[in-house]
Amino acid sequence: MHRPKTKILVDGGDPEETRQIKELLGFVDGQTTNPSLIAKNPRIRQLIASGHKLSSREEMDEYKKIVQTISPLVGDAGVSIEVFSDEKTTAQEMLSQGKEMFSWIPNAYIKYPCTEEGLRAAQMSVKEQVRVNMTLCFSQQQAAAVYSATKGTKEPAYVSPFVGRLDDIGQNGMDVVKNIQRMFSKGDGHVLVLAASIRSLEHLLYCFALNADLATVPAKTLEQWANKQFPMPDAQFQYKASGKPIPYEELDLEQSWERFDIQHELTRKGVEEFAADYRATLSPTA
Ligand code: E4P
Repeated sequence: MHRPKTKILVDGGDPEETRQIKELLGFVDGQTTNPSLIAKNPRIRQLIASGHKLSSREEMDEYKKIVQTISPLVGDAGVSIEVFSDEKTTAQEMLSQGKEMFSWIPNAYIKYPCTEEGLRAAQMSVKEQVRVNMTLCFSQQQAAAVYSATKGTKEPAYVSPFVGRLDDIGQNGMDVVKNIQRMFSKGDGHVLVLAASIRSLEHLLYCFALNADLATVPAKTLEQWANKQFPMPDAQFQYKASGKPIPYEELDLEQSWERFDIQHELTRKGVEEFAADYRATLSPTA
């Protein structure tokens, strides 16, 4: 296999799946998790099915065990762990969860949402050398805010544009990846683009064609790639976009993050859904 320049992360919540993908590919650069994927972890599902709902502490302990099992399986792109947040969670609350999660494994990246509080938490985190992966990114403006909020970080920060969810609302999600890469090519390189919400082989091949820094990919799509003998895009590769194009914006990366328009309906909805999936695993008294 010709190993792509784009680092490949497994998008999931089951260490066994990561192990299988590693066997199939011969390597796995990293892993991303999120509350919905953790709720689908076989052990957690079994607990819930047997009528045992978890306390918040138990849920954290289960999450910790999962990432501790995944951590040694992956390469230098690390394991992304997502803090619990809903519309009321403050930056301080996210930071204290983030710091605890960061201590679980040596290669953690902490996921905060691209919201005001999430960006504030990221700004504080990088000052304390806590690596971040800014999730639920749906626009170039949000990525510019991530760039500005994490300036001066010693470790690279990740920003995760969600391709599939933009496709779902009739837009060309891959345009956001392309636009952010173009914008960052004028920057200092402290933020890496991690293409997320990848749903198809087409998405993956276009990530390779764009030389995206990283892509997080569900096991199913990686299996499809393997079954086709690991195709790579050639010079003639044309991405077949179905959605509405998203135009490039000229943005000033030097301005403070508060000045960017970071509102996006899909970010709000995404936070809400992650919070609901997380809560579904908890007992009512938790
Ligand atoms: C990874 O970091 C994201 O949480 C994930 O790719 C989201 O994918 P989805 O839009 O298919 O839920």
